[in-house]
Amino acid sequence: MKKFIIAALTSSAVLASSVIADEGMWQPHQLPSLKKELKAAGLKINPEELTDLTSFPMGAIVSLGGCSAAFLSPQGLVATNHHCVYGSIQFNSTADDNLIEKGFLAKSLNDELKAAPGSRVYVTEAVNKVTDKVIGGLSADLSGIERYKAIEKNRKNLIADCESEDGYRCRVSAFHGGLEYYLIKQMEIKDVRLVYAPAGSIGKYGGDIDNWMWPRHTGDFAFYRAYVSKDGKPVDYSEDNVPYKPKHFLKVNADGVKDGDFVMIAGYPGSTNRYRTSVEVQNQFEWYYPTFRKLVHDYIDTIEQNAPEGSDARVKYASTLASLNNVEKNWGSMIESYGKGDFLQRKTKLESSLANWLDTDKSMSKKHRDSINALNALIEEDQKSQETDMKLWAMGRDALSSTAGRLYRLALEKQKPDAEREPGYQERDMTRFEEGLKRFNRRWDEKVAKELYKYFVGQYATLPMDQRVKSFDKAMNIGKNFDADQFATTISSMFAKTKLTEQEIRLDWMTKSVEDFKKSNDPFIKLAVATYDEKYQRELKDKQRSGQFQQLRPKYMSAMIDYYDYLNKPIYADANSTLRITYGNVKGYSPKDGTYSVPFTTLEGLLAKHTGEEPFNSPEKQNKLIQDKMYGDYHDKAIDSVQVNYLTTVDITGGNSGSSTLNDEAEFVGLVFDGNYESIIGDWDYDPKLKRGIHVSSAYMLWVMEHIDGANNLIEEMSIIR
Ligand code: ARG
Repeated sequence: MKKFIIAALTSSAVLASSVIADEGMWQPHQLPSLKKELKAAGLKINPEELTDLTSFPMGAIVSLGGCSAAFLSPQGLVATNHHCVYGSIQFNSTADDNLIEKGFLAKSLNDELKAAPGSRVYVTEAVNKVTDKVIGGLSADLSGIERYKAIEKNRKNLIADCESEDGYRCRVSAFHGGLEYYLIKQMEIKDVRLVYAPAGSIGKYGGDIDNWMWPRHTGDFAFYRAYVSKDGKPVDYSEDNVPYKPKHFLKVNADGVKDGDFVMIAGYPGSTNRYRTSVEVQNQFEWYYPTFRKLVHDYIDTIEQNAPEGSDARVKYASTLASLNNVEKNWGSMIESYGKGDFLQRKTKLESSLANWLDTDKSMSKKHRDSINALNALIEEDQKSQETDMKLWAMGRDALSSTAGRLYRLALEKQKPDAEREPGYQERDMTRFEEGLKRFNRRWDEKVAKELYKYFVGQYATLPMDQRVKSFDKAMNIGKNFDADQFATTISSMFAKTKLTEQEIRLDWMTKSVEDFKKSNDPFIKLAVATYDEKYQRELKDKQRSGQFQQLRPKYMSAMIDYYDYLNKPIYADANSTLRITYGNVKGYSPKDGTYSVPFTTLEGLLAKHTGEEPFNSPEKQNKLIQDKMYGDYHDKAIDSVQVNYLTTVDITGGNSGSSTLNDEAEFVGLVFDGNYESIIGDWDYDPKLKRGIHVSSAYMLWVMEHIDGANNLIEEMSIIR
């Protein structure tokens, strides 16, 4: 699956010394200090050029919020992954008119479809370090909750100031657990339209079976277009809007790549955990992932059983299912890799070497020892409540009760001045709030929702009485022993009575007062009012805990940074959904002893997988073209075919999806859309032998566009280099 001028915490001396090839999600400002490494890897442009976010090529790179993307034409055409626009395809589909299956192509601007409500294109324009303004004035002896609130207030002030210019969305992101803060200013394009997505049998070829796998043959690409007002301002959807004219866009190289080529990815990786403690690692892999994975598994099962294939309900949950399946497989791989590897031992060893180093260096010991111990103690304390936290999370899963809860919270927050409201409930959040309410009906089905509610509350109700939410138990008539049938009766009558399933009524609640809520007879509104106080008390406890972490995590990271510095190892911040650059080369790998995977797949390989049955149901037209060796202008001599997907050593994670793959001249040569199965644990534990990104080649994209879908209008719009 998201600033910047120099250096964070890393002195350039550290960076220049011994960079491990290809590891690292670098902030653009760090790149000039990697000049030597970038040149050795094959970059032809000057790395200084990558630090200016408003010039080429960085000015062409955008975020979709959760996915990455880039402009490929002067008319605001945005290329990203099929799985990144999946929610918008789903939103525009029904069982009878299923665009997920058929694909969609707008032959002219007028045919383009509105993307799902809430879809955005963000263009990052500035990134500035604001650490002092966020934590500079905080006294060391603030309580957790005081620290949390002080940081939140400082963040909100910076954001409000930054957003005083219309059309911008700003945020303050923590790096290294809060050792540093950056203010990020993004132009927020709100009118986003679906332009083109190949059929699911290309865009999601191989489905969840091939997901996270190599060899791969997926055409995981699609196009949006960004629209603005006639005078170029980012505004809400309107028929009068016109395509946005980006200052920069990428040229498309129709040849794709060759083995060994330099590649680079600029995108918005979501989160990694490369500097966690051994106690956290052990807990995550031995408790958290296995436990949550079971919930996700049941979640998927419940949906599949209650929304039969081919039904409208299944279309409604298609997007949810894709995400759940993706995460279930991701966690499964991590549990597997952890079980057969020595990650925990190496982590423990790193910590004992760190302790030994502190033994030999008095000043460092004085600086770091106490805070390392304090963080470890806090982590252990925090883990004590994790099972309860998980089950409370399950209790809150139901879409209607959480919608009612959010609506009531909005009424309460509106009683305060805007600047004092909880983030998510400020004026700046209202458009999104409304869009969330508008997505509801296309993603919700009564039968599925009932079964999910029953399952999740059943999980919650295994908690001992003293950990339960008493007001919830009372309102829902749940005793010590959970009676599923009785609960089913309760929710059936609530579902029958509530009006919150109607969009107009939901939206209307956005304008109601606290008194209106208290008077309401809607069962979900009543539930929200009855449980609010108790839930709010828990929220305060969570914030107290977060504030304690905000104090100790940065100190721990500063110890790690000093230690890495001593070891001459480079350090980059864990991913945090901010703009990063990673680079590497096209390269195969050995998934297991005695085997080697070449870095390219071909059209013939795609056809060999075809069974006619989903997800291996390649379209007849494609099969015929392959059988006839109709490669058109996209034949690659080295593989005697058209390159479909390829592997590279770039260091990516979720959120990088949809990023353009750039070659040594910053030309577009494809899109990164996945990682190989063996690399998934890389979010915690980077291994250069196993970590690979999976890309769809620009050659295959253009071949599909030209020979299968006839998307010549788009090909003409782009600048193609042959
Ligand atoms: N593995 C991909 C990623 O995390 C997502 C692929 C979505 N496709 C799917 N079959 N669920 O970026």
